[in-house]
Amino acid sequence: MKLRAVLTTIVLGMGVYAAQASEPVIIRFSHVVAPNTPKGKAADYFKRLAEERTNGRVKVEVYPNSQLYKDREEMEALQLGAVQMLAPSLSKFGPLGVRQFELFDLPYIFPNKETLYRVMDGDIGRRLFALLEPKGIIGLAFWDNGFKQMSANRPLRKVEDFKGLKMRIQSSKVLEAQMKALGANPQVMAFSEVYSALQQGVVDGTENPMSNLYTQKMHEVQKHLTLSDHGYLGYAVIVNKKFWEGLPADLRATLEKAMQDATAYERDIAQKENDDALAAVRRAGTTEIHILPNEERRKWWQVLLPVHKEFEDKIGRDFIQAAYAVAAQVEKEGKAR
Ligand code: LMR
Repeated sequence: MKLRAVLTTIVLGMGVYAAQASEPVIIRFSHVVAPNTPKGKAADYFKRLAEERTNGRVKVEVYPNSQLYKDREEMEALQLGAVQMLAPSLSKFGPLGVRQFELFDLPYIFPNKETLYRVMDGDIGRRLFALLEPKGIIGLAFWDNGFKQMSANRPLRKVEDFKGLKMRIQSSKVLEAQMKALGANPQVMAFSEVYSALQQGVVDGTENPMSNLYTQKMHEVQKHLTLSDHGYLGYAVIVNKKFWEGLPADLRATLEKAMQDATAYERDIAQKENDDALAAVRRAGTTEIHILPNEERRKWWQVLLPVHKEFEDKIGRDFIQAAYAVAAQVEKEGKAR
């Protein structure tokens, strides 16, 4: 009797195992940008690598363009486990209670990409990811986009040109302070709503790297664009901690390697995507493109730099100083790229 019971248990158990083994693990990866952007392309590339290398044991469903969730909703969905993977911009972590990520929003904090990558991949990046764990989130990688440009329906050359303009920003206190320092009126808004808000005049202008501006067709509703490179936009690829830690160890290791390779690919294409987008906006002819003369650039810099000091408490003086130190080291080595 006893033996039969044991055998039955084993057979039933194997049945359950067989059912589990044949069902792929599903990773729902939600994001807010178009598929033909650095983030969009890298999400699709990660999907390909993950599915190929796990021989179909993992299926990655990528949902671009805020199809599933808008900015704020997607963070909640990740914590609840409704999606497993996101790549929000580094400006969108404040509402989670980790304002330190707004380090990346400080105007002119990264003089070049080499400094940026060293900050992301070094001690600062590791410490930022550690802040996510108590929120039930694991940080897997930092992805790049690029430096931001300003757009509006009036030319933005002098600081005074911003006066009274309603400028759309992401949900970041640093970006709010940045726009205020310029004399503009910042309005937090989800990315998916920006095009129609610009079209209807709910806001007058915005900031983003070229790849986002072009793929959302914002140039069709913005007459002027200033190549200002005044700030940076990048991403953290994050996963639900419980889900990630519940994966079989071999699968998790394969996915981590796939993410590493997708990250190298992402950083490789980001600059070119932005260069191509700028060329496409030029060709479209809807938007006058302004180069900031050095003298004006210096004035923007003077007005915006005090934002660093203003946020020492919220971001952490040590983080800001550490970023300066990395920039100085890169300069010393002559490795600016
Ligand atoms: C934005 O909201 O402007 C960007 O964060 C969108 C994105 O994810 O690149």
